[in-house]
Amino acid sequence: MSQTKENKIKGIVLAGGSGSRLYPITKVYSKQLTLIYDKPLIYYPLSILMLGGIKDILIISDENTIPLYQKLFDDGSQIGISIDYAVQEAPNGIAEAFIIGEEFIGGNSVSLILGDNIFYGDLNFFYRALKRNGGATIFGYKVNDPERYGIVEFDAEDKVISIEEKPAKPKSQYAVPGLYVYDNRVVDISKSLTPSARGELEISDVNSYYLKKGDLHAEKISRGVAWLDTGTPEALLQASNFFGVIEERQGLKVACIEEIALYKEFINKDEFEQIIKKMPKSLYREYLYKLLVELNQQSIGTFS
Ligand code: TTP
Repeated sequence: MSQTKENKIKGIVLAGGSGSRLYPITKVYSKQLTLIYDKPLIYYPLSILMLGGIKDILIISDENTIPLYQKLFDDGSQIGISIDYAVQEAPNGIAEAFIIGEEFIGGNSVSLILGDNIFYGDLNFFYRALKRNGGATIFGYKVNDPERYGIVEFDAEDKVISIEEKPAKPKSQYAVPGLYVYDNRVVDISKSLTPSARGELEISDVNSYYLKKGDLHAEKISRGVAWLDTGTPEALLQASNFFGVIEERQGLKVACIEEIALYKEFINKDEFEQIIKKMPKSLYREYLYKLLVELNQQSIGTFS
């Protein structure tokens, strides 16, 4: 599934939902726009797709929030990517993203990330999945409270044996995070699904289909990676504190999309400078400016 001309990998950020656990803010405002330390939550999942080298991205949300995302990111060209937008009328389930995104996906593969999922650390698990040729890849992250999540069970060779949604007696401790990579079949599979008892097109039904065909892969995410939950006020505070500590300690920003665009060579140094010039005075601008100065001082001009 490497990004050849015939088969690119497109990216979707599913950033709607009801966000009921964050009421009352979500009465007027999308969960994905709430602040995680110094930037809106959606920057974090968007940056994961960008780090995977994905440049064609569709953001799906409700009709009230789409204009706000458009204000934030425009068409993405300023950071060297292409961002499209589409409306999900109601939170009808994660798999609906592939039906809404059918035209956007075209004949390509697609990686979906939920707008409230944050990963921090070595992303090799994701890069490996993007290189896989065909099938579906989900991920497994060891958690303390597996009964709260979709769970994946592995055999001794790390092949998937089963997946279960919020099992009372989990067969493993590996939760399935909201990040997935699928070949093009995912569109037709999603279209063939019927809504579950809770009225949603379930992503677990998509994964079960691939499992039955023997085409479901799962990559274990190592313990050095943080996968953070952002569904509750407490979890938001914890995530903010986590990134506050990291950024304060290292002087490096996490999920800074302009920095990632430069690092991935989606934009060049001049374009980076133009972005900075347009920003209001802020700590965010100061950070980018510092990067630019450092870059200008490096005689060979590499960026790390
Ligand atoms: P959930 O955690 O399932 O739900 P939620 O964000 O609406 O919050 P709550 O449980 O408090 O009501 O959603 C996970 C992510 O997926 C979140 O970023 C919203 C997004 N999502 C959609 O955009 N559309 C959907 O149909 C679903 C099910 C989720």
